[in-house]
Amino acid sequence: MSLLIELDAQGAKIIGEAAVREFTPPKPANEGHGDVRKKIVPNVKQPTEPTSKEWEGGQYLSMQEWLDGSQEGGAILLQPADDVKKLDGRIGNAALISVDFHRIGDGRGYSHAVLLRKRLNYQGRLRAQGAITADQVFAMARVGFDSFALRADQNADTALAALDTFSVPYQGAVVAGTAVDRADANFTARVRLLERALIEIAQRHERPALASSLSAEDMVITDVIARLNLPIDVFTLETGRLNPETLALIPQVKERYGIEIDVRRPDEHAIAAYIAAHGKDGFYDSVAARKLCCNIRKVAPLDEALNGRDAWLTGQRREQAVTRGALPESERDVERDMHKYNPLADWNWADVLAYATRFDIPMNALYQRGYVSIGCEPCTKAIRPGEDPRNGRWWWENQDSKECGLHTMQNVTR
Ligand code: ADX
Ligand code: SF4
Repeated sequence: MSLLIELDAQGAKIIGEAAVREFTPPKPANEGHGDVRKKIVPNVKQPTEPTSKEWEGGQYLSMQEWLDGSQEGGAILLQPADDVKKLDGRIGNAALISVDFHRIGDGRGYSHAVLLRKRLNYQGRLRAQGAITADQVFAMARVGFDSFALRADQNADTALAALDTFSVPYQGAVVAGTAVDRADANFTARVRLLERALIEIAQRHERPALASSLSAEDMVITDVIARLNLPIDVFTLETGRLNPETLALIPQVKERYGIEIDVRRPDEHAIAAYIAAHGKDGFYDSVAARKLCCNIRKVAPLDEALNGRDAWLTGQRREQAVTRGALPESERDVERDMHKYNPLADWNWADVLAYATRFDIPMNALYQRGYVSIGCEPCTKAIRPGEDPRNGRWWWENQDSKECGLHTMQNVTR
């Protein structure tokens, strides 16, 4: 048996058990994060049998049976290959339309939902069943599903949490109340907007990736990517000068989310040449020597990591630095000829901490020791409470030179 979860104006609830049989989707070859990706799911032979022939009101009708019949009552089960446009003007009073997923992330199921809701104006209950996972319900709710038959071994809490986030506007209307409620509703709305933004990036681009410095900001984005199972890769630039506390997050992310962070390292010859010319810590001597070090250890590996991609994401926020005061959420990275997204641009540090607490994300242990902005070990230090966060980076330089070259300012807001 499986769990039936339904979403309405009051939020999401477990309704009971659904008659969907235990369904084990065929395993793609590349097991792990990314299995559900739209473009790399291999061609597996699709089963032709429905994942369930029954709903709580009896036997389903196939789309053809429904069209051949009286169209009075009953529930329709749509298969991926069905031409749903044929239902135009003929949905009648269906008690339920279910969409059968035979493979995780099958885009045809999503297309059916969009067509039913947007083009055929179907207002009734729309269920996803079969190869669906708790992580996907948010994305499914976005295209109009409001009922989900999950396998019994799926994490219903994950699904409920995702759906509760989805139903914030309704809840906001209900809790018209105290400042605490409002702050909470604002926070939840902020999270929901972030989730939407990331879903859209994942839909719009073929090969988007998050550049993660393993900061709290980047962990927030990573957490959303993992919760919603979005096809956005994560890479980090391991400069060779990071703190052990920062590096410890790489296996933590793997353990917590199953996400294998792509660890990019600088060119050994370039490092050797830098050390020969300037010394290992030559970056303390001049802005030029510092920028050269950042260039070798960060910027060149970034260029390589972005090679062949069409979009990248960062955890930058406007509040972080004077140089980021006008940071847009979406911009054109002119130099690299691709899109760049800063989805946390308008988040403040309190939002980041609220997210970290609410979702209990892995955090760099250095935050507890007074660090706020964390980069390489020799160029990062703790600051006093209330001090400008950027004072903890390249503190021997002026505020306006404190960029490492990862983020050029010549981009065009989009
Ligand atoms: S920096 O320019 O001063 O180094 P900062 O540490 O504020 O940047 O980080 C801003 C964003 O740049 C991060 O959220 C991340 O997207 C990206 N970034 C910075 N350092 C790295 C890194 N070592 N690896 C990957 N991305 C990074
Ligand atoms: Fe080099 Fe410091 Fe830049 Fe790291 S932050 S790449 S150690 S100059």
